[in-house]
Amino acid sequence: MNKAVIGLQWGDEGKGKIVDFISEDFDLVVRYQGGNNAGHTVIVDDDTYKLNLIPSGVIRGKKCFLGQGVVLDPNHFYTEYNQIRKKIDDPKIYLSSNISLILEYHKQLDIINESILNSEKKIGTTSKGIGPAYQDKVGRKSIKLYDLKSRNRIEEKLYSIKKFYDPILDSFNESKINVDQTVSDLLNFYDSVKELIVDNSLIKKEFKNKKILFEGAQGALLDLDHGSYPYVTSSNTVSSNIVIGSALQVEYITVGIFKAYSTRVGNGPFPSELFDDIGNYIAEKGLEIGTVTKRKRRCGWLDLVSLKYSCEINRVKELCMTKADVLNDLSEIKLCKSYNSNKYENINFSESDILESLSLVDSDFEVFQSWGNFNDLNKFETLPDNLKKYITYIEDYLNIPIKIISLGPERNQTIIR
Ligand code: IMP
Repeated sequence: MNKAVIGLQWGDEGKGKIVDFISEDFDLVVRYQGGNNAGHTVIVDDDTYKLNLIPSGVIRGKKCFLGQGVVLDPNHFYTEYNQIRKKIDDPKIYLSSNISLILEYHKQLDIINESILNSEKKIGTTSKGIGPAYQDKVGRKSIKLYDLKSRNRIEEKLYSIKKFYDPILDSFNESKINVDQTVSDLLNFYDSVKELIVDNSLIKKEFKNKKILFEGAQGALLDLDHGSYPYVTSSNTVSSNIVIGSALQVEYITVGIFKAYSTRVGNGPFPSELFDDIGNYIAEKGLEIGTVTKRKRRCGWLDLVSLKYSCEINRVKELCMTKADVLNDLSEIKLCKSYNSNKYENINFSESDILESLSLVDSDFEVFQSWGNFNDLNKFETLPDNLKKYITYIEDYLNIPIKIISLGPERNQTIIR
């Protein structure tokens, strides 16, 4: 059966490692949304792979497809593709011809958008031009990969884009759109990657009845519609966007992935956030630094209330928990089980102001005693009892089994149940 690996929190759940780990059984790995705002680090033996756009399946030599729901920065893609070519023999990557491009002016607009907000209202974007690129897609202005076949087509589109955006760029003292330079860059880019560009119909045909793994980017709580708007990314991160973003009309099982604690980069509500030494300790021990922006991630206890919501909106059938080992040395570990005694049925997760104003009380948390250090990373049965209690509590609360437990960055630090 096809599978989708979807982040259930605010991104950075460890999707890269898990996609790499399970991709062995699949024929094609697909990204269907987001762009190079995502960051995946995968460690295999002595090699560390850092990927932003290309699915982690590429490391196992799997064929990878970037679907039409992705926004693609040509410069970034070209650099990442060349880096991967140095490490992997003949990587097989397909780009949907229907992908919308991120151009220089999108990054300028991303920065302008943030600069006009008061500091407490800033989104804290990755500045990669993601929001403005999706704005152009919805506004029917995007330059698509298929446009790159024709100089005239690029020029025609760019001149109207220039008319629209130059006054804004100019009023913020940003350089205006340089049509000649952009056209020449795009034509060069097209020359270098044209063999990778395919029609959706070709992928559909070639991978009919093959096993497909979908790799989500960001997390469900950053979803444009289901997340805490406006503190969200500009795409639908939930699994129901898979069919649209990949143009592959197939069935799949959703594997929801979460960290044993919570992190968030950028602004927005985070009810179980820790502002004390424990939060700092988790950030340091868990190496919670943004892969894309190098910002320190905000840390907090695992939030079962929002996790239950994420499981529901993604129709999650199986779970994967990562990084419980980061909590080994803590004397007490807490799980957030309600917001001021409210269960998730009563909470509107897309209304930021309400979530921001929450102030959780002791009875909102279930407390677990330390599980200490352990060495045996291969069997659930030999895990410390307190960790098993933690896992069982989560499964009971969510009523979904945790089938994969990842306890370190290496492939062999993974338990399958
Ligand atoms: P954007 O996607 O760059 O527009 O940023 C919007 C919000 O999503 C910001 O809070 C970012 O920090 C967050 N974000 C975007 N991509 C990721 C990711 O891959 N991991 C974690 N947070 C992300």
